[in-house]
Amino acid sequence: MTPTATEASLEERIAFVEATLASVLGEARAERHRTAQHVGEAAAASLGMSASQLVYGELDVRSVARVLEAANVEVGDRFLDIGSGDGVPTLAAAQLFARELEICRGIEVVPALAARATEHAERLRAWLRANPSVAAAPIALSEGDIYADDDAIRALLRETSLALCFATTWSHAPRRVLPELSVALRAMEVGARVVIVDARLVEAGWRWEGDLRITPPDTAPHSTARLYTRVAD
Ligand SMILES: C[S@@+](CC[C@H](N)C(=O)[O-])C[C@H]1O[C@@H](n2cnc3c(N)ncnc32)[C@H](O)[C@@H]1O
Repeated sequence: MTPTATEASLEERIAFVEATLASVLGEARAERHRTAQHVGEAAAASLGMSASQLVYGELDVRSVARVLEAANVEVGDRFLDIGSGDGVPTLAAAQLFARELEICRGIEVVPALAARATEHAERLRAWLRANPSVAAAPIALSEGDIYADDDAIRALLRETSLALCFATTWSHAPRRVLPELSVALRAMEVGARVVIVDARLVEAGWRWEGDLRITPPDTAPHSTARLYTRVAD
């Protein structure tokens, strides 16, 4: 049994994926994180966004594992990380739930971050070719604005059954509600699930299922992952 097989315990899979990503991504986490943060925030002016909209943070492997387990990942689920940054949650999900996830996608508005994530996915694919007993779901990382009013984004959302968004910096509204994102994500099919970390959807078209406390390294003392299901309008 390989450590990413579903039969391995979640703890075993977390430890294995942490070790794999540390070796595949190369640089020490803190250094890579600082670079990604700088790359993201430096892009604000050219994208017409404020630096505060692009403040960088990452979910670690353990948080991704706990959140996806709480969302009851099922065989055939199609995963999307909205605002995928350096690609860590997408790469982690592909290995943690290799048997269940049909595809793991990420979309990122900052072109240089999307390019870094693509490069990280390429490194993981090379590692997987050298370690053929280790399973991973297919990975696809792309550049794009989740709020863009275009067919490609709508198709991506329609094809996603389980989305994750670490939205620490996406809302400064009271109670951190995300009205614009709530509307954009309504392109998802009824029954699809969305996990929003540290923000809330507006509940028209969404049913709140519950909260999970997680402890990613970037948010002290903890973050709150909220699970929603798309319901008929
Ligand atoms: C808090 S970081 C999370 C990064 C990644 N999900 C992780 O957990 O490692 C939020 C990311 O969302 C991206 N982002 C912000 N607005 C976006 C938008 N409208 N469409 C796509 N990505 C966006 C930012 O550039 C940043 O990389």
